[in-house]
Amino acid sequence: MPHPKPRPIEAAQEACRREFGSPEIRAQAPGRVNLIGEHTDYNDGFVFPAAIDREVGVAMRRRTDRLVRLYSETYRRHDEFDLDAFARIPPGSDASTWGNYVRGVVRVLLDAGHPLLGFEAAISGNVPEGAGLSSSAAFEVAMLTALNALFDLGRSAKELALLGQRAENEFVGVACGIMDQLISALGRRDHALLIDCRSLETRPVPLRLKERGLAIAILDSGMRRGLVDSKFNARRAECEDAVRRLKQLLGRDAIRALRDVTPLEFNAVARELPDDIRARARHVISENERVIRGVEALEEGNLAVFGKLMNQSHQSLKNDFNVSIPQLDLLASLAQKAPGVLGARMTGAGFGGCTVNLVEVGSLATFRDTVLNAYRERSGREATLWVCEAADGASTLA
Ligand code: GLA
Repeated sequence: MPHPKPRPIEAAQEACRREFGSPEIRAQAPGRVNLIGEHTDYNDGFVFPAAIDREVGVAMRRRTDRLVRLYSETYRRHDEFDLDAFARIPPGSDASTWGNYVRGVVRVLLDAGHPLLGFEAAISGNVPEGAGLSSSAAFEVAMLTALNALFDLGRSAKELALLGQRAENEFVGVACGIMDQLISALGRRDHALLIDCRSLETRPVPLRLKERGLAIAILDSGMRRGLVDSKFNARRAECEDAVRRLKQLLGRDAIRALRDVTPLEFNAVARELPDDIRARARHVISENERVIRGVEALEEGNLAVFGKLMNQSHQSLKNDFNVSIPQLDLLASLAQKAPGVLGARMTGAGFGGCTVNLVEVGSLATFRDTVLNAYRERSGREATLWVCEAADGASTLA
């Protein structure tokens, strides 16, 4: 997949000049690839994502009235609303649903007591949508980063991430966790971030990919997720159900989330749980362990162990959390058998999208050919591969 030129931030700036006039602020925020730790964030657990070199760029200028005027360079469409009277655009409506992300972040800023004025913004992005690479978090964080600078709101990157998550939870209606917004806001070049999703403590861990002769390759299955929002929310509800039951079975009131249940405790009472709930909880509890063990292995330079944990994560997401699809299973198993591949797994929410692969640089060309050809033959679809860089998080340019 060639990197589209110009960069989104430049495209947004150009569009802003053309549609509205010179921008006062430019901001960008990246998508992410999660290396390990899936569906653990909303269970107060651990995740280990990296920001990627695909991003959403925004160019913005103030108005003196209460009107918000928007232009999406990606969709080549305009949209506008009044700060004092706006609502969520209903799903399936003709109008732009990307506009909901802007309305959502404006709503949470107003609710948080920030006295905004109207503004004009052009937006452009190159994070593939519905691919599990957090295009929506990148959009929210880019918009919030720009508004924070334009109106001098004084919010930290972490606070902006939390506001983005709130916009998605309360306004857009997806009960996502904090991983995507946090890594988009705080990512660091050549690092992945170990995030404790309870305390929101983050620890950048160097990947040293070049030095290690490794690459992070993303394989896009070409399958776009369908009714992901309702399936996602359903998984979250199942995890909450598991917490209620485990708390009772273990008689331990201090259990607030699946994060608080040890593997030993879980094993002691697992057979008392309904099958589905047992499987969901088993995934989350074991995945948290894999994140911690994986980061330790990476820090010790034991990449083979890290890769094995990635493979196990895929199995667990497929069999226990039930969020994979046959095309992602095929891509992961083809990759896991290919020479020079340390680990492969689906990344993101699932139900479509991409796999993430840790591959020796010297094997990339054969990896590309063998996996893409076999995928075409066996699924009748085209996958695309690109090698991504671990990038910095959101930033502004005046
Ligand atoms: C989506 C959500 C995240 C996280 C992942 C699964 O990307 O937005 O909060 O739950 O799915 O790990």
